[in-house]
Amino acid sequence: MSIEVASRPTLLAPAAPAAPLQTRTKPRRHVLDLDDFSVQEVEAVLQTTAAMKDVLQRPIKKVPTLRGKTLVTLFYESSTRTRVAFELAAKALGADTVSVAAQSSSVTKGESLIDTIRTLQALGADFVVMRHHQAGAPYVVAEELSASVINAGDGWHAHPTQALLDLFTIRERLGRIDGLRVAIIGDILHSRVARSNLWGLGLMGANVVLCGPPTLLPASDFCDGLPWTFERTYRLDEAIEGADVIMLLRMQLERQSGGLFPSLREYVRTYALTEERLARAKPGVVIMHPGPMNEGVEIDPRVARSTQSVIETQVTNGVAVRMALLYLLSGLPA
Ligand code: CP
Repeated sequence: MSIEVASRPTLLAPAAPAAPLQTRTKPRRHVLDLDDFSVQEVEAVLQTTAAMKDVLQRPIKKVPTLRGKTLVTLFYESSTRTRVAFELAAKALGADTVSVAAQSSSVTKGESLIDTIRTLQALGADFVVMRHHQAGAPYVVAEELSASVINAGDGWHAHPTQALLDLFTIRERLGRIDGLRVAIIGDILHSRVARSNLWGLGLMGANVVLCGPPTLLPASDFCDGLPWTFERTYRLDEAIEGADVIMLLRMQLERQSGGLFPSLREYVRTYALTEERLARAKPGVVIMHPGPMNEGVEIDPRVARSTQSVIETQVTNGVAVRMALLYLLSGLPA
């Protein structure tokens, strides 16, 4: 049996009439945030992700579509899910992968971000997947590179591939995104996941309510240029009332300068999603968390493992979403 997907693309994307991603003016080369994505592009990613899930359910979970291409992951912040998912995605598509951890690279000898990037380009990277503590760093890198740059999280700013896998997981579970009420709860102020999800969920027609302590709930204009509105509340019961999806976020203590709420114990008492609070939510509400979770803080472990939780499914879907993005960015014919 042949699995030569490059020459038989319908094997790879049977249900996905996906053309290469296209920005308003030209074929898309980079994925830096969802703020410049169209509905059509998100649809292309979601449909291609479904096709990639089919590939991952085959006995041999590997196709040669990106054979000869090289993906480099360059992470200046720690990661488990995102980095591993990108590596597995690239390998499943036949690409070579190289992983650079800033702590063990020449960055520690004083090499600048731009010199590091130029070096990776000279070494032949086709895709650079990058996580950096500075908001905007991937944009600077994208200006310098002929390779595709994918933002795997930049400071508090954006985490577009997380938002795409969240969209896919919601639609897979509930059959739609349009018209759903999605409550995002926690440290919104420092969350790149919340920002990218505000763009992605809003674009696909969901109604978002943000909830957290007043000091961690940003002003309504915190997401630059967002063309749709969203609710804000610091009352948990108000946020989860009628919600179809509850997305918990962890306290990003590494991005806080302190004093934003009295204590973790206080936070748990007011905002943790417990079984008791979940019982007051809509039956069938879907529980999400991008990870890493602080069980016993923002989420009770029994809620995290309940039948309503799709937290592990989010992680699994992360591989298929990244496969879809690599495939679509590579510009191969549909
Ligand atoms: N969701 C997420 O970005 O997880 P990691 O930090 O483990 O990559």
